[in-house]
Amino acid sequence: MNDMRGGQRGGDAVLSEAEVAARVDALISRMSLAEKVGQLCQIGGVSFAEGPKPEEIIRQGGAGSVLWLNDAKQFNALQRIAVEESPSRIPLLFALDVIHGYRTIFPVPLAMASSWDPSVAERAQAVAAKEARAAGLHWTFGPMLDIARDARWGRIVEGSGEDPYLGAAMAAAQVRGFQGPHLGAPDHVVACAKHFAGYGAADGGRDYDPVFLSEAQLRNVYFPPFRSALEAGVGTFMSAYMDLNNVPASGNAFLLRDTLRTEWGFQGFVVSDAFAVGSLVTQGFARDGSDAALRALKAGVDMDMASNTYAQHLAKLVREDKLSIADIDAAVRPILAVKVRMGLFEHPYADEAKLEKVATLAEHRREARIAAHRSMVLLKNEGGVLPLPKTVKNLAVIGPLADSKEATEGSWMVFGHKPAAVTILEGVRAKLPGVNVAYAPGPEIRREVPSMFEDFFPETKRPAQSPQDAEAAYNAAIAVARAADTVIMVLGENADMAGEAASRDSLDLPGRQQELLAEVVALGKRVVLVLLNGRPLGITWAAQHVPAILEAWEPGTEGGNAVADILFGDVNPGGKLPVTFPRKASHAPLYYARTLTHQPEDNPRYRSRYWEGLTTPLYPFGFGLSYTTFTIEKLKLSSSKIQVGSSLSVTAQVTNTGKVSGDEVVQLYIHQRSGSDSRPLRELKGFERVSLNPGETRTVAFTLGPDELGYWSASAGRWLQDPAAFDVWIGSDSRAALHGELDVVS
Ligand code: BGC
Repeated sequence: MNDMRGGQRGGDAVLSEAEVAARVDALISRMSLAEKVGQLCQIGGVSFAEGPKPEEIIRQGGAGSVLWLNDAKQFNALQRIAVEESPSRIPLLFALDVIHGYRTIFPVPLAMASSWDPSVAERAQAVAAKEARAAGLHWTFGPMLDIARDARWGRIVEGSGEDPYLGAAMAAAQVRGFQGPHLGAPDHVVACAKHFAGYGAADGGRDYDPVFLSEAQLRNVYFPPFRSALEAGVGTFMSAYMDLNNVPASGNAFLLRDTLRTEWGFQGFVVSDAFAVGSLVTQGFARDGSDAALRALKAGVDMDMASNTYAQHLAKLVREDKLSIADIDAAVRPILAVKVRMGLFEHPYADEAKLEKVATLAEHRREARIAAHRSMVLLKNEGGVLPLPKTVKNLAVIGPLADSKEATEGSWMVFGHKPAAVTILEGVRAKLPGVNVAYAPGPEIRREVPSMFEDFFPETKRPAQSPQDAEAAYNAAIAVARAADTVIMVLGENADMAGEAASRDSLDLPGRQQELLAEVVALGKRVVLVLLNGRPLGITWAAQHVPAILEAWEPGTEGGNAVADILFGDVNPGGKLPVTFPRKASHAPLYYARTLTHQPEDNPRYRSRYWEGLTTPLYPFGFGLSYTTFTIEKLKLSSSKIQVGSSLSVTAQVTNTGKVSGDEVVQLYIHQRSGSDSRPLRELKGFERVSLNPGETRTVAFTLGPDELGYWSASAGRWLQDPAAFDVWIGSDSRAALHGELDVVS
């Protein structure tokens, strides 16, 4: 059951379930069918199409929620119409995508998952919620919980990577951050677990393409973050766009009704993804709009995001007896309950002066900088090139992203937000006052097919660089590198190269970046590569030829300062990859938790699955270096034999064996050797990020019980725990070698 943890009485006491239900009943009893249908419709605050203006729809009681608007004054104007002029005077719920910060931008979610520290995500989303609520918003379309194992898929940037266990931890943390201790807590917003479910497994990594996943994969891999969000009390879910096993997710009763509501007991409401109810027709599933509305509602979509299909058809479907009033009421109830819990009836309006006070709080910038520190992953540091001495002379910062505020803040900017990040160049210059830091961007990088967001935000369109200008920029960058002794190359992807409708058929560095990198390296300078990107990149050449590589992802407003803190040794990086880095795009999907084959992994003949070269990861899941070194030893199981259903504890000792303080993420993996089904060759079942001073030792303890050892069995068609032998490993990434054995007996 998901109790949504009470609610707020206008900032006072938390309402009980019964009080909420009573207030919802009272509202429902005086609503007409048209008003009820109105509550099920979410409309754009700016219309993309011809038709009645939002004000008019709201005045008629035709909208329960508004999205794609971001202005407290306009919120208040619309709210006044809803509260004072609409028939049942029910306040609107204002919603927007606040994914990794509102004004203070935090690292993208994939980066925050690299912290392997759920408190980073929780604190970040609490700041995001505070700013968003101050701006007049009530509801965010996050967290995005899609497991992604294919680096080509652009939306990998929005989630927590490839692993269900790490994903579940990050999911709950984000829900806590957004929603606070209970729904309606001051300075918080309602969260939305999206996109339910399976969206990350799109064929070929192509956004929106069909997904085919077995029930076992769904339940063992793709559902756990959603389940975790639900258990953390998430108020809403969003249904996904794509076909799941030939049934579009937004018309999928197995997902939305049977699993989410009946089996899991979800009590909040489900919103479709944008236009997804109408798209049931385009997708070749529903016959027409009426059929789409009928099937989406029956499947469990309570609110129609922007497609206008419910508005057009639901009332008629009731009149035709295809839907009952009870069907409609069942969808309206949880929406009203959220509004009651959020205290909207008592406090419908935004304080128009609040945002500027809240968004400028120094602590928000501080949190953003810490989150960025903890999210970065040191991929390579040959010969201890990093940290660079602050006495460095003849330093150059080169690359198209080095001074890009957009790339530093990354994908999913809040509507109307103007990127204001400290760039890497600015961060480095601020770190070295008095030092002349040379800079050259090199040629620009851009998408071959323009981003869909350019149509929505034409002001973001930039004219393309001419071939002559690009050539001149390339030569200028080489000249700047030639004059330097140390070069920080800032390469990767523009913000619009990952995200929605931003899949790729290559994981190479876009444009001429690879060529530029190779030429700078050939000059024999000390080169450090800083990556800004929203997905794993195929940086095989760089991994072989560049001595130091820092994966900075898209680190947010404080990104440049955080990178400089790490490059010059004020902060020791400790992040770990939440996704496998394949050597190239053709190896995707590549993930660590696959099952064994009949050819053992250590048989050299079969180590590669293609004859052209290694198919092992370039960097494995869980991998990341530090400026210090650690040993992990003395793995101990509290018992080497346990019964099905019982638990044991597993401990190991981690020691900082280097000369500086640092963080290690201690990771526990298991493998079930035989059973009802083949089980993954490794599965993460515990992790802890620990900070240690030089010479310091800590014992880390994990529990293994039925939750960790059980699984949903394809052959049995249910959850079970097998009596079986298990391997247990603890280590610093998914290749952990410290090993123990466990016997689970019946
Ligand atoms: C995306 C969602 C998003 C929604 C509203 C859709 O295109 O798939 O993730 O929440 O738009 O902006």
